[in-house]
Amino acid sequence: MSDFVPPYPYRPQKPFSIPVLLRTLSQNFLAAWPAAAFEWEFFTTRLLSRRVFICNSPDTVNYAFVAHNAHFERKSPQMRHALKPLLGDGLFISDGEIWAKRRRVVAPIVHVSRLPLFAPIMVDTAVEAAHRWGRLAAGAPIDALREMAELTAEIICRTIFGRRLGADHASAVVRSFSDYQRKIGQMDFLSLLGLPDWLPRLYGLSIRRSAQRIHRILDEIITNYRSRPHDSEPSVIGLLLDARDPDTGDALDTEALRSEAAVIFMAGHETTANSLAWTWYLLSQSPDVEARLHDELDRVLGGRPPTLEDVPKLPYTRAVFEETLRLYPPVPILSRQTLDDEVIRGRPIKAGSLLLVVPWLLHRHKRIWDKPDHFIPERFLPGAPARPKGSYVPFSTGPRICAGAAFGLTEAVLCLATLAQRFRLRLQPGSAVMPVCRLTLRPGEHLPMTVHPREMPFAAAAQ
Ligand code: HEM
Repeated sequence: MSDFVPPYPYRPQKPFSIPVLLRTLSQNFLAAWPAAAFEWEFFTTRLLSRRVFICNSPDTVNYAFVAHNAHFERKSPQMRHALKPLLGDGLFISDGEIWAKRRRVVAPIVHVSRLPLFAPIMVDTAVEAAHRWGRLAAGAPIDALREMAELTAEIICRTIFGRRLGADHASAVVRSFSDYQRKIGQMDFLSLLGLPDWLPRLYGLSIRRSAQRIHRILDEIITNYRSRPHDSEPSVIGLLLDARDPDTGDALDTEALRSEAAVIFMAGHETTANSLAWTWYLLSQSPDVEARLHDELDRVLGGRPPTLEDVPKLPYTRAVFEETLRLYPPVPILSRQTLDDEVIRGRPIKAGSLLLVVPWLLHRHKRIWDKPDHFIPERFLPGAPARPKGSYVPFSTGPRICAGAAFGLTEAVLCLATLAQRFRLRLQPGSAVMPVCRLTLRPGEHLPMTVHPREMPFAAAAQ
């Protein structure tokens, strides 16, 4: 069993003073928590004019996100401000009737039952990446974060727009989304601290322009798609065009269609990319885990690319990825604005307050996990001791749980299985790795590694 403790930011013994806290928050949300926060179960803090409540135990998480979700389903003002120009009233940031209506239409399209359509796209794209790596010299340097971002962006583009349109437009879509995310990454975090909703934000214009560029690209792709109605390629756009609200029978209008395509691209690409990059890093530091993973891949696949049917036969591969999501959850903070007055553990919470569930804390909580900071994939193997519901929430929990959880997990297992059976990655000497979080949790801006082909017992089959 691995005894590797991967890096995490320094945990101060006492909470920071307000000026230090503000500086820390502007650089890295993960570095702001004192050591005791990994033991507290429900706590509150004041950030300037805004009171913030943090649910940090399975019962309080379940109370807010599952049993009383209707009072806590609204996303925080910061999240809504940042994403509205791009996503409009898209599922990710809407609530109430619109959310319920869109969820009924969108969730079935990226549901587990659709995986037979999309898994072959995932495997083919990963095999293309393997061919690219195969052409590199042994020990060639790569940026593993960028490699994984390109891989998952290519997969999600081909999934949303169909193989051909997706491959044609992938780079324009990726560039325009990165530009938008960079701009909102620089967003003032004052909304979080209580800046009133009505105050215009300075970055508004440049963000709006960036969103308009994305909308133009998406509209062009949708128009192209519509002009080829007999195209039988599976795609999210095709399924969205055909989808009808199960209650009203309504189809999505053009704007809603574009918003939901943008939601799926945004929600479904960087999350998987970051966690795959972390997986490569963790494997590179844990030879025993890497050896066990290789053993499973060689035994089950014998050198051939995986299929959807192989996924249940790869429990260790999946456990490695699930443990990575525990240690480095790509969405490390889930933020909500309460809609009604509430009470949690006897403490009144006024409507309009900010409430957080922080997977970063919960996943390393001392009362929930044994050796919480260690990398131990075995905890996720079938037969391992059960965890309380609400203690492991990389995909959130309750009615707003990630609609693409099965998609993301399957994609990660298929990509890892394809690439890890042929290659090892090693950290470039002298590289320091530390988790940072602005919007999503990532290993810094780059993850410098080197690629090494494995001695394949089944080299012929892998061609
Ligand atoms: C490892 C991969 C992924 C992780 C860790 C992840 C995590 C999450 C989390 C935590 C949320 C809730 C955010 C919040 O409450 O503030 C979410 C929402 C969502 N995710 Fe994912 N996600 C992943 C992959 C995907 C993929 C591949 C797709 C689509 C193909 C997707 C589609 C969505 C959608 C549509 C929502 C909005 C759900 C709603 O509000 O009802 N996600 N995801």
